[in-house]
Parts: sequence; C-alpha cells; structure tokens
Amino acid sequence: MKEQLVTKKILKWYDLNKRSLPWRKNVSFQKRQYFTLVSEFMLQQTQVVTVIPYFNRFIKDIPNLKALSKVKSKKLIKLWEGLGYYSRVRNLKKTAQKIIKNFDGKLPDNFEDLISLPGIGNYTANAILSIAFNKAYIPLDGNIERVLKRYLYLKKERDIQKDNLIKKKSIFGMSSRPSDYAQALMELGALICKPTNPLCNRCPISKKCKSLLKKDFDLTKKNKKNINKYFLLKVYKKDQRYLLIKNTKFNFLKNLTIFPMEELSKPKNFDENLNFKMSNMNMNIKIKYVKNTRKFQSPYWINEKKLDNYMLPSFTKKIVKYLMRN
Ligand code: ADE
Repeated sequence: MKEQLVTKKILKWYDLNKRSLPWRKNVSFQKRQYFTLVSEFMLQQTQVVTVIPYFNRFIKDIPNLKALSKVKSKKLIKLWEGLGYYSRVRNLKKTAQKIIKNFDGKLPDNFEDLISLPGIGNYTANAILSIAFNKAYIPLDGNIERVLKRYLYLKKERDIQKDNLIKKKSIFGMSSRPSDYAQALMELGALICKPTNPLCNRCPISKKCKSLLKKDFDLTKKNKKNINKYFLLKVYKKDQRYLLIKNTKFNFLKNLTIFPMEELSKPKNFDENLNFKMSNMNMNIKIKYVKNTRKFQSPYWINEKKLDNYMLPSFTKKIVKYLMRN
C-alpha cells in the first residue's frame, strides 16, 4: 500500500512521541483483544490519565473475558467506583457473556457482530477493529475529530455533522499499520492538537493545516444543552447510620445504591443544598431529614464511619460526606 505523505508524517511522529500506556503493551494477540475491549469501554467517557490506574487494577483482578463473564456485580462496581457512567461496566460484562455464549469466547473481528454487542457502537467497533485487529478503520473519537476540524477548518454547523466528518476522515488515508495509525491520530489530538493552545510548532502536519493558515483554532461548540433537574433527597438516620436503597427508578446510576429521592417538577422557591453534574444533567438537590422510617424494599443501612467498606457510587459517598460535615 502506498502511503500518503500525511500518513507517513503522522506515524513517524507517533513512533517518536507516543505515550507508554498499559493497553499499548506488547502482549499476545488474545490479550490485546481483551485489553482493547476494556480500555475502550473505560475511555468512552473518561480521560486517559484517569483511566490508567483503573485499567491496571481491572485487568489484574479480572484477567480475561471468561473471568469477566462470571464476575460478581459487587466486585465489578467496586473496580469501577469513581469512573461514573456505570452502564458502561454493566454492558462490558454482558458483552463478555455474549462473546462466550455466541462467539466461542473470541471477540468478533467484523463490524456487524461487534455492534450487536451491548455498549459497542460505531466508534468502539472502529476502535476495536483497528487497534485490536489491525484492520483498516479509523475510529472518530473526540481527539481525531478535533484534528480533522482544524486541519480542514471545518466550523459551520453542517460541516461538523458526524456524517460529514466520517466522509472527510478519508483525507487521513490509510497506513499499512492501521492499529498504530488509529492510535497515532488519537495521540496527535491529545498531545499536540489540544482543545486550547495547540502546539502547532511540533505538529507533523502543520504545513497544510487550514486553521494554522488562518490563525484561528477555535472550535464550534455543539449545542448540547444542560438540563436542570430538581430532587428531594430523603435522609433517614439512626445513630450513625443512613438508609439507602437500590435505584430502580431513575435512568442514571441504575440499580446502584442511592439515598431515597424523588424528582420534583420545577419548584418555585427551590433552595437547594447540593448541586451535582451528571453528564448533561445539573442536579439540584434539596435534603430533607425524615423521622419515621417508612417501609422500603430491601433497605440498606450504612455506617458513616465505615464509608470505605461499601460498594457505593461516588454520588452517594459525596452526599454522606456532605451530611457528616453539616
Ligand atoms: N481514547 C480512546 N481510545 C484511546 C486509546 N486507545 N488511546 C488513547 N486515547 C484513547
């Protein structure tokens, strides 16, 4: 395959500048598939530096797909605690179970089968095919999108639509090392073509970059509105213990342990005690201490002094800490 100049330049830069990341280690083909699956699920909504220690603990405790398919939910949640977006880890386990059951324990190496698995969409399927299987795909993650938008100076609303970006990514060409190339493009976005203050003097493709030519590196912000929501959170306290319940009601933190809460329609004088941001939801929370212990299904009492012993989402732990301070 004859490589285009941009492809060559980017790969050469990557070979000299890539970070040593735990999922990039030289491991067996089988392990590489597992490492890619786990790291890509973690990286879906979390930054590389945050993911590294989680990834290391995860693969140490759950070393392969088979172990993942059988792991107890409690252990899984403990390993994910702090990463947030827990649906990812539930999907990861379901995906492992499906691979064992339907694909003879082997991660599929084609797009259709991959996107049939829970938690794997267009992006993750592309990432797995390129990174784990060395196939000629380019996953369009936030980093690569930014490089593309800057290189071609794409700023108009219609130019930055996903379909258009997918078409335009062909300007990157293809390398005879697709796995390295996909990661090289991500790395270029992460280390050089940064969201603010891009390091153009170290960029291997700056010569033909239209944003550099125009000296305008601003990116058009997507119109993703934050939604304000209001909750009444009920605290039942006995001695040093708080009552928690399993969340079957709300779509966030599904099936995890939270304080009993109810959503309120926009109240007039809502005097909140706490604010949380959960993806694009601004949670305004008012805390109410309640005396009588109503009957709850499987109530779960936790001792505020032993907070570290419990498998709880950070959201719940932060509320306990707030209650202890106030
Ligand atoms: N972001 C998403 N996937 C990544 C990877 N494999 N390496 C670095 N950053 C990433």
